[in-house]
Amino acid sequence: MKSEGTPISVITAYDFPSALLADQAGVDVILVGDSLGNVVLGYESTIPVTLDDMVYHTKAVTRAARSSFVVADLPFMTYHGSLDATLAHAARLMQEGLAKAVKLEGGAEIVPAVRALVQAGIPVMGHIGLTPQSIHQIGGFKVQGKTSSQAQKLIEDALALQEAGAFSIVLELVTDQLAALVTEKLAIPTIGIGAGAACDGQVLVFHDVLGYGEESHPKRFVKPYANIGEIIRSSIRQYVEEVKDRSFPGPEHSFHMDDEAAASLYG
Ligand code: KIV
Ligand code: NA
Repeated sequence: MKSEGTPISVITAYDFPSALLADQAGVDVILVGDSLGNVVLGYESTIPVTLDDMVYHTKAVTRAARSSFVVADLPFMTYHGSLDATLAHAARLMQEGLAKAVKLEGGAEIVPAVRALVQAGIPVMGHIGLTPQSIHQIGGFKVQGKTSSQAQKLIEDALALQEAGAFSIVLELVTDQLAALVTEKLAIPTIGIGAGAACDGQVLVFHDVLGYGEESHPKRFVKPYANIGEIIRSSIRQYVEEVKDRSFPGPEHSFHMDDEAAASLYG
């Protein structure tokens, strides 16, 4: 798709119905992101997300994905120990979750892990720029690669990941100029989030695309295409009201026996 100049559409999904809808809508790639920690488990970061959590959600998503390619995140600290442990963790996402590829955060420092996975036949997506699993080291959700030395490091990381065999790289929260340069330098596709329009593809979180969540002021790099949260809230409010005033259920939602049989109930 990169060589044809066809942009790659990516959205996250964490469960069966959302993956089914995303797949039916024609998305190219579904990412089972560890953002599920924030988005569906209510954590403040992705750090508490476990491999078991990722396997559980990946299973649900891959049951729904018919034509989209499913990538699953390796969560916090599952690819920083021995290569054997890294391989075993990725194997769970592939064998139990039925993911087609895994995604890891980091640059040159994770090249040995990327190499080992690729050598084992596992397609690897990289993720550089803002890497939420190291949020406490970064010190907050800040745009990355703004100084020339940081930008240089990001370019080197991207090239190192490509060289290690990654098939694609997510660029998160980097300036549009830097993302454009990295995209031009790489043979493999870049997938941007808050990284401008020059990337080979774009990724957004499912709930952000739909306006499905608490956040009333979306992040700058998000475009909400709907306000599903409000539709859900007002629909449930109406349901509660109708239960309270007994207008639900109506006769059309109820089951009836014939009058004679009903009369016999009372003896
Ligand atoms: O977990 C996630 O949703 C991600 C994307 C934002 C790239 O890693
Ligand atoms: Na992630």
